[in-house]
Amino acid sequence: MDKEKFYITTPIYYPSDKLHIGHAYCTTVADCIARYNRFAGRDVLFVTGSDEHGQKIQRKAAENGTTPLEYVTEIVKNFKLLWEKLGISYDDFIRTSERRQTQTVQYFFQKLYDKGDIYKSEYEGLYCVQCEAFWLERQLSGGNCPDCGRPVEKMKEESYFFRMSAYAEKWFKFIEENPDFIQPVSRRNEMINFVKQGLDDLSVSRSTFDWGVPVPFDPKHTIYVWFDAVINYITAAGMFEDMDKYRRYWPADLHLVGKEIVRFHSIIWPIMLMAMDLPLPGRIYGHGWLVIEGDKMSKSKGNVVDPLLLIEEFGADAIRYFLLREVMLGADGNFSRDALINRINSDLANDLGNLLHRTLGMIERFNRGVIQKGEEITPLDAELIALADRTIDDFERFMENMEINEALKTVWALIARGNKYIDETGPWLLAKDPAKAGRLNTVLYRLAELLRVVAFLVSPFLPFTAPEILKQMGLSAPAKFLLKDARGRDIIGGGAKIAGGAPIFPRIEQPAADTGTASPAPGIEPAEEITIDDFNKMRLRVARVLAAEKVEKTDKLLKLKLDVAGEERTVVSGIALHYAPEELVGKDVVIVANLKPAKLRGIQSRGMILAASDDEGRVSIIEAPGVKSGSRVK
Ligand code: ME8
Ligand code: MG
Repeated sequence: MDKEKFYITTPIYYPSDKLHIGHAYCTTVADCIARYNRFAGRDVLFVTGSDEHGQKIQRKAAENGTTPLEYVTEIVKNFKLLWEKLGISYDDFIRTSERRQTQTVQYFFQKLYDKGDIYKSEYEGLYCVQCEAFWLERQLSGGNCPDCGRPVEKMKEESYFFRMSAYAEKWFKFIEENPDFIQPVSRRNEMINFVKQGLDDLSVSRSTFDWGVPVPFDPKHTIYVWFDAVINYITAAGMFEDMDKYRRYWPADLHLVGKEIVRFHSIIWPIMLMAMDLPLPGRIYGHGWLVIEGDKMSKSKGNVVDPLLLIEEFGADAIRYFLLREVMLGADGNFSRDALINRINSDLANDLGNLLHRTLGMIERFNRGVIQKGEEITPLDAELIALADRTIDDFERFMENMEINEALKTVWALIARGNKYIDETGPWLLAKDPAKAGRLNTVLYRLAELLRVVAFLVSPFLPFTAPEILKQMGLSAPAKFLLKDARGRDIIGGGAKIAGGAPIFPRIEQPAADTGTASPAPGIEPAEEITIDDFNKMRLRVARVLAAEKVEKTDKLLKLKLDVAGEERTVVSGIALHYAPEELVGKDVVIVANLKPAKLRGIQSRGMILAASDDEGRVSIIEAPGVKSGSRVK
């Protein structure tokens, strides 16, 4: 194989409880990076798994009146179900209770012991069972675990120690020579400061409980769960099991982990490998934490978000999109239902969904559902094509740098340009003039080609949607999405019959705001109060749109012919950037019927259409579907 390889891992999560949105976040990011690397043509190994040993799990199982193995086996089923629903494309799922893992762990332990890097002594100190971490008095924060804030337990027992202290110099040298090893830089600095405080030998066995891998030469000792856990990465690469695989994939290129466990991955794990004379991974990336409406997630606060429920409600790709778009990798991010719904409605339903459905709708109506090639391109078309090419380059650069949300932004800028191109070219007007059939075909063809590029570029983020877009276009999805196949401006060819289908991202309707409360919603500016009599001066009425067309030489204006209780009226409305005229025909809208008439671009306008607009300038007209024309709104 001459393909470059890429080996990426997630943390192996504790199966002490079901997973929450924070775990789903990390695994989604890893999946997106894994998919991107396959997309870029690399040979990827993507591993996740479960960290099944240790005191925390043993206690949890006892509380539930079952054995540790039975307890975790049930929960691991749930991990796998979640990953399947979320579209996680892992190649291997490693459980630390598996034989292949215990074998590697014992090999490490024995070898380090034989070498003199592991020795027996007694540990006296503090332990956080939740984090499975040893602490010194001076490291505590307010007497509690500095990582999770829970109380720590006093411990005094016979223990084997790993001679970490002997490797401090070597570690510093390595970090200096490999400035990108720990990322982001803030985490690197934290780790350097941590080691500067002095590196103590690490207790690597426990003798007061037994759920774990036994020390091979002294089985009343159980190997420390973190010593065990990090070794999963090299076991999964195939050490012992498959040496060809191992030689191909080890060392890992990227361990993606949460910021709270960077220490185990960037200090303890590399020193274990140094002591074993094994190659070190390429990079440890510490991502930030997801908080819920600004608050740390915790059972006691009752704000733990279950990703399975979210997927059921909104769909996997919507959740993936939100996590990847909203959070900057490395920084903490905020999860809120409102923000999620906003993203779905604006980016997925409005931007991406509209581009697809408007295009397909027009091909259906104007070209009997067939994509046709059209004639010579114009400078406007050339600009659109150039932007698509540039977007592919930018996307690649951002993804190579793991700037995932920047990559998404650049794809969405292309989508926005596509929607604007529809408004600028006005296919519904071209369709009216048989002499413009060639131009119409060109415009629709350019949109189809644009959507093809978009489907390819969103494939690492939205793995369910990408093939669906192509399917609705009547194109077959490739067995493998490849970046090199995204390029090209004339791939579809003429003659494809579109298939259509349900909206890929239906809008999520939010429940109406509670009008019974006196205080304004946060962010709404206070306005002068009016009486009911003031309000009653307004005549709001339902009107049916009979016809709509763009006002010539304007970008924003549409001229609408309305029926209001049998009376025909003309209204000029500034919504042309948001609605195609043909979309409006047949809609029941709400107008201010007694607004003083005004002349706009020489057209007498009688009344005003009501519409809502958000901070980002998105506009949505108010509709009263099926309500009789002329009905009063109050
Ligand atoms: O630490 N926001 O497992 P764990 C973002 N078994 N990510 C979060 C998160 C949040 N609020 N909460 C958890 C362990 N995570 C060990 C790992 S690896 C050899 C052993 C993610 O179940 C984040 O990636 O406590 C974090 O590092 C990981 O889950 C911890 O999962
Ligand atoms: Mg944890």
